[in-house]
Amino acid sequence: MLGNFVYSNPTRLYFGKDSLDNLSAELSKYGDRVLLVYGGGSIKKTGLYDKIVKILNECGKQVFEDGGVMPNPTVEKLYEGCRIARENNINFILAVGGGSVCDYSKALAVSINCKEDPWEKYYLKFEEPDCEIIPVGCVLTMVGTGSEMNGGSVITNHDTKLKIGHVFGEEVFPKFSILNPELTYTLPDYQMKAGFFDIMSHILEQYFSDTDDNTSDYIMEGLLRSLIHSSEIAVKNPTDYEARSNIMWIATWALNTLVAKGKTTDWMVHMIGQSIGAYTDATHGMTLSAVSLPYYRCIMPYGIEKFKRYAVNVWNVSAENKSDEEIASEGLAAMESWMKRIGLVMNISDLGVTEDMLEGIADGTFINEGGYKVLSRDEIIQILKESL
Ligand code: NZQ
Ligand code: ZN
Repeated sequence: MLGNFVYSNPTRLYFGKDSLDNLSAELSKYGDRVLLVYGGGSIKKTGLYDKIVKILNECGKQVFEDGGVMPNPTVEKLYEGCRIARENNINFILAVGGGSVCDYSKALAVSINCKEDPWEKYYLKFEEPDCEIIPVGCVLTMVGTGSEMNGGSVITNHDTKLKIGHVFGEEVFPKFSILNPELTYTLPDYQMKAGFFDIMSHILEQYFSDTDDNTSDYIMEGLLRSLIHSSEIAVKNPTDYEARSNIMWIATWALNTLVAKGKTTDWMVHMIGQSIGAYTDATHGMTLSAVSLPYYRCIMPYGIEKFKRYAVNVWNVSAENKSDEEIASEGLAAMESWMKRIGLVMNISDLGVTEDMLEGIADGTFINEGGYKVLSRDEIIQILKESL
């Protein structure tokens, strides 16, 4: 049975090859002192930076820059961005990049006018913003996180070895996001594939929870089937527009709050993955691919019905003359073959994790209770060991 909920998503999306044409009209709605936020330079290489600056100039905006946002943005970078934004009295943030740039821009949005330390307030105490929030718009260049249409914002503190996400409310969602699948063609192969698994993981985190008959589960099975199909095509031909555009749209729907409505969710793969990220700074999607199978094999006995359904409805496993365990295991085996076929990282040792880090990674893992089994610390260590 679906629980009670409110569903509303304020982000306006512009999707397709010509979607950047809508940027001027959107910018005209917001302030004239714009902070242009971007990453380590890919947008300069691809020529997108020049296009965006031209549009901003044509709109008569005063442009201030905050480049160099790293994958897994850090708390130090957040402080630096606050300083730039305050010194220049900016009143709009334009994020051009992937999830890191978008997440970081949302963190800035709630931190610029914050009187307290934003890391402590939002990421350690999980308090909600009580200051003026600067509006954010996004031009997305990397697919996976869903950050373009949600309130998620993940920040890393390397000193304390903590990577923490705060899911902010609607007032922090991007006001608009421009989604042109062609802008993602220049992504390195590794990043593209990491994004594919990030999407899969977002769906599975929300799928493997609850035993009720939820419409969301049917939606998620459809999204998963489309993702599996399109990812196989995109890996062989990264400029296949049909596949890349489908994947971009799946990523948005996987984490724009819709499929979680009315049901519980798990998010344990992300909790373990984020702790690995805090230790290694590894690519987010690959931290998830490396631990997913050991985790799902660990919890499968506690959610056997759902794992059986996953095998049959998503991976076309035949249920004839087989026990529940056999069917469920075949589903995970099919997932494993797909992961290997598309070239995902399957072991945390490939991400730089060594045995001496396991205790610390387990200690940095937040334990959620929405999945089929509440993990003990020993079980987290066991999962990590199996992934070494
Ligand atoms: O920095 P640049 O030079 O732009 O290069 C980036 C970066 O090195 C590159 N890139 C992006 N678009 C490109 C491109 N290179 C060539 N052509 C393009 N079109 O790709 C690299 C990775 O980018 P990044 O933004 O870090 O990747 P992603 O989108 O996966 O974002 C990861 C961050 O998002 C967080 C993760 O934890 C991580 O910190 N997440 C955010 C979530 C949310 N807001 O809801 C949920 C997710 O689960 C996730 O935790
Ligand atoms: Zn993720």
